[in-house]
Amino acid sequence: MGSARKPTVSLFRKMKNEGKKIVMLTAYDAPTAKLAQECGIDIILVGDSLGMAVLGYASTLPVTLDQSLHHCAAVRRGAPDAFIVGDMPFMTCHASESEALKNAARYLQEAGCDAVKIEGDAALAPTVERMVHAGIPVMGHIGLLPQHIKTSGVYRVTGRGEEEAERIIADAKAMEAAGVFAMVLECMPAELGKRITEAVGVPTIGIGAGVHCSGQVQVVNDLLGLFTDFQPKHSKRYANLADEIRRAFTEYADDVRAQKFPGPENSF
Ligand code: KIV
Repeated sequence: MGSARKPTVSLFRKMKNEGKKIVMLTAYDAPTAKLAQECGIDIILVGDSLGMAVLGYASTLPVTLDQSLHHCAAVRRGAPDAFIVGDMPFMTCHASESEALKNAARYLQEAGCDAVKIEGDAALAPTVERMVHAGIPVMGHIGLLPQHIKTSGVYRVTGRGEEEAERIIADAKAMEAAGVFAMVLECMPAELGKRITEAVGVPTIGIGAGVHCSGQVQVVNDLLGLFTDFQPKHSKRYANLADEIRRAFTEYADDVRAQKFPGPENSF
């Protein structure tokens, strides 16, 4: 850790100013993180999408702080030189500011993360401010807030009407004033993504927020075609690994049953 090649928060601001797009991708384990680092992914996010992508939950809500830290540490071991953001799970920064601070610090001290991500609107700005003041880089996350699924009832595109759009722009400005180094914009019209990107100095990282954001983030399982029950509109499949894995598992099972594996080349 601490290599000179490692990106820092100021690099992402510079990239926005120079019009260079920031590429962020989720990872939850060491081998995937290693590949992401090798391919020059700018930011690896250990998202709380961990809950659905890896742990088999129906939403992000059951993910605990310890589970998240466990996966962040694995990602760090796989990608020692990458910029890694740990996503603070449901209720880990709401009970009190001091608990939020202690929880956030664990991402840097125990898991080797470079920053934390916090999902929430302007109401969380004072908490963010205290974290940044303590030396913890924070990425905001506004627009669609999956951790609010029980109060919102649905995952829906946010900011379609002008009133809601203005509220989300106000969230973005509050987060910037609180000191975030970047913010995720989730599921909003591309035009609103553009307005926010122009309204704040810090980079915006979009997921379903259009091409004008300073960068993009994708959930690795969606991108690799590992999750095939449905495909979110904001994602694009760059591979179809589910089919490839099914093919390999079936071929392996067939070979074992037909006594074709192990062959002489696999035997001692
Ligand atoms: O948990 C996650 O993967 C995220 C991204 C969708 C931004 O928060």
